[in-house]
Amino acid sequence: MTDRTVLITGASGGIGSAVAEEFAAAGWQTVLCGRSADALAVTAEAVSGAGGTPVTHEVDVRDETEVFYALAECVPETLDVVIPAAATIPHAPGERPLDEDRYEDVRTVLDTNVYGLFAVIRESLAFMHPEGRVLVPSGSVAREPTPGMGMYAPSKAAAEAIARGFAADVDQTVGVVDPGVVATDLTDGKGRDPADVAGMFRWAALECPPADLDGEIVGLREWKQATR
Ligand SMILES: NC(=O)c1ccc[n+]([C@@H]2O[C@H](COP(=O)([O-])OP(=O)(O)OC[C@H]3O[C@@H](n4cnc5c(N)ncnc54)[C@H](OP(=O)(O)O)[C@@H]3O)[C@@H](O)[C@H]2O)c1
Repeated sequence: MTDRTVLITGASGGIGSAVAEEFAAAGWQTVLCGRSADALAVTAEAVSGAGGTPVTHEVDVRDETEVFYALAECVPETLDVVIPAAATIPHAPGERPLDEDRYEDVRTVLDTNVYGLFAVIRESLAFMHPEGRVLVPSGSVAREPTPGMGMYAPSKAAAEAIARGFAADVDQTVGVVDPGVVATDLTDGKGRDPADVAGMFRWAALECPPADLDGEIVGLREWKQATR
């Protein structure tokens, strides 16, 4: 066991859920947030099976007041690591040209992936150890032109810029973790098994040198080189 604590938003599915299991198996305390209580319960069961004792809380990251009260209620002591994985893409990836994106979907994506990300990091900082780390999951669509990704791709570019901004302004180490394409609801099940990349987040949380992560992007190559 360790006395370290990780907060994961978007823990009710995909990468967040696999990362929760990974940290729990390594003895971390896990605080798990998502909107769906039923889906969070499924993750909590898997985390318990991995030896953890998860704390769960329903939260919609688009509402900063909800985020504040959720953290105040369920963060046990100090947070060592925050993984703000909550994000959304309201269409199949590759199938929504930006010029055809729907205004209501654009608003949902920006509210969740940008405003919500900002709110989770901002509100978490008050609970964080000064040497803690924030690991923002993102992918190459944030940096490379990729057809049909609608507002999701620009939202992830903004997410990466938010990580850089916090890195410049706060004591904690804030960086982007890029796991490549991972098979989740967000990718319609295409890509690597989330369990195969979960270890990358634990590496970024503990072993990656802070200077390589702070305001930077670490990806599969850096992880593999470091752990080979
Ligand atoms: N999959 C990939 O290939 C890939 C690659 C690079 C980076 N990423 C990033 O990794 C993160 C996780 O993605 P994923 O692929 O695991 O996606 P996912 O399976 O769709 O999971 C997204 C999670 O976010 C939660 N969520 C969505 N809207 C929310 C809201 N308003 N408030 C709170 N929680 C919300 C969802 O749970 P509820 O619906 O229960 O709230 C779900 O648990 C995202 O930031 C994504 O951009 C993914």
